[in-house]
Amino acid sequence: MTMNKKTIEDIDVSGKRVLVRCDFNVPLDADGNITDENRIVGAMPTIKYLVDKGAKVILCSHMGKPKGEPKKEFSLAPVAKRLSEKLGKEVVFAADDNVVGENARKAVAEMKDGDVVLLENTRFRAEETKNVETFSKELASLADIFVNDAFGTAHRAHCSTVGVASYLPAVCGYLIQKEIKFLGNAVNNPVRPLVAILGGSKVSSKISVIENLLDKVDTLIIGGGMAYTFMAAKGYEVGDSLLEADYIDYAKEMMAKAGSKLLLPIDTVVAREFSNDAESKIVGEGQIEKGWEGLDIGPKTVELFSDAIRKAKTVVWNGPMGVFEMPNFAKGTNAIAKVLAEIDATTVIGGGDSVAAVNQAGLGDKMTHISTGGGASLEFLEGKELPGIAALQDK
Ligand code: 3PG
Repeated sequence: MTMNKKTIEDIDVSGKRVLVRCDFNVPLDADGNITDENRIVGAMPTIKYLVDKGAKVILCSHMGKPKGEPKKEFSLAPVAKRLSEKLGKEVVFAADDNVVGENARKAVAEMKDGDVVLLENTRFRAEETKNVETFSKELASLADIFVNDAFGTAHRAHCSTVGVASYLPAVCGYLIQKEIKFLGNAVNNPVRPLVAILGGSKVSSKISVIENLLDKVDTLIIGGGMAYTFMAAKGYEVGDSLLEADYIDYAKEMMAKAGSKLLLPIDTVVAREFSNDAESKIVGEGQIEKGWEGLDIGPKTVELFSDAIRKAKTVVWNGPMGVFEMPNFAKGTNAIAKVLAEIDATTVIGGGDSVAAVNQAGLGDKMTHISTGGGASLEFLEGKELPGIAALQDK
């Protein structure tokens, strides 16, 4: 996908009521504190631009999966607070259980140019995830212009991402523009060699990504839980490791198609059980015995993968190399993150777990681009059109 959509710079926003769909689906701890504010940081350039231009900025987002009912634990109130702090000005929180209610209408009616209002969680309305007209029209009735900047939710065709775009002039914000630039160029117009690193637990969830990337990359690295299905496809015993037996044939097909482009682990850190303190050891290729499960790539694999990564000019990474949440099985993932941080190449981290892994390793600021999309960046890497972007006006 290339960026041929109108942006906030292509439309006059001064004095206008602008409804901005952000992805404020951020993790909260038990006390309601935001534990990772990447997505809030990512939304700031658009919000600041609109405030500076004297727009009346009406923000909206979902959080979690409240399943169409108001649920206190999914309220966006903590986000309003954090946004106020970051912007250095009050963000009025319109706490309506029905999202577009009395509070929202009143707050919007009272807005002056440059003011900011945040609506309550759009998923408090059952219509939202079904993209039902009524709620889309209610959202549209608050504003003159719609801006979608919710890259993380661009793969969902909901009222607040797609429906509302039928009733207002609809353009994209800076975050969507930036995500498409980095993810799009990395995959479709890369400086070569292009190396893609895929990990995570399931082959089944990455099939379309593998297929789409295989044609485009110079090297495809597969690690993490999904690698065991490929090992099984080579005819190796994988012990108690994650295995998707239904995908062994598929893995064989991919290996044949990829030839020398594909790199798989050549050693593995295996453990007696799925726990950080489990007895563990390093075993060579094809040496995983019954009673042991693979939880990380081994040191020889780190070397093999690192050599390929060091030759790259562009790297796209989606999915960890092992169970990085457990310190004893995070070494492979951390080592790969370190190589990415050191090389002189464009490094794009696409997707939830790899982003968490890079940040856990303290190397987030060493990467060229960290996507704010989980499912959205995966669908982007699959080459799919994202409905939240498709719904916006073309240039
Ligand atoms: C995400 O966290 O990936 C996005 O906010 C989308 O959330 P969803 O998977 O609940 O639609």
